[in-house]
Amino acid sequence: MEFEQVLKSRRSIRKYKPGQSISKEMVEHLIEAAILAPSWKNSQTARYYTVITPEMVEKIRIQCLPEFNQNNSKNAQALIVTAFEKNRSGFTRDGQAENEVGNGWGCYDLGLQNENLVLKAAELGLGTLIMGIRDSENLRKILSIPDSQEVVSVIAVGYPDIEPDMPKRKMPEDIVKFY
Ligand SMILES: Cc1cc2nc3c(=O)[nH]c(=O)nc-3n(C[C@H](O)[C@H](O)[C@H](O)COP(=O)(O)O)c2cc1C
Repeated sequence: MEFEQVLKSRRSIRKYKPGQSISKEMVEHLIEAAILAPSWKNSQTARYYTVITPEMVEKIRIQCLPEFNQNNSKNAQALIVTAFEKNRSGFTRDGQAENEVGNGWGCYDLGLQNENLVLKAAELGLGTLIMGIRDSENLRKILSIPDSQEVVSVIAVGYPDIEPDMPKRKMPEDIVKFY
């Protein structure tokens, strides 16, 4: 698929086809695409907890998502929990924040990777939904995510059972100033 087409056709998918499966290899392709993103001093602090067995997908969905996101991710074949190592991206070797953004840089780097991931999924015909409304403490407990990492999103991955229209976007003139 043309790059422009991938950019335009990717949508947040809130309805997935039942009875499908996604292989570990397919999820690995998504992670490989994610890893190609740039990061602060190439620090690569993004981390992924990938849930692919049906029992675990169900457990995470029910115990770590609010009801509306449980419904949005029903029949998704995989849930990818994203996190980043704190106090590294945007920090000096001796642990000082380089500037006022602090751990915002770790989140920035993770977001860059996650966009690669969802675009790669779109190219492969997979739908995704990034969910920021989730229970991070339950995710941390169930998946043994260490305190050194910030838990950020849960990304549902599956075969789309819907073709949503693109939600309205701002125009460049709404968001940019030229000097
Ligand atoms: C950081 C982030 C958090 C989001 N959290 C949720 C969420 O919890 N539940 C949900 O249904 N959609 C969530 N979304 C999806 C957005 O609503 C969606 O990206 C936006 O409406 C634009 O639609 P599009 O992705 O189809 O272009 C989230 C998206 C992002 C980037």
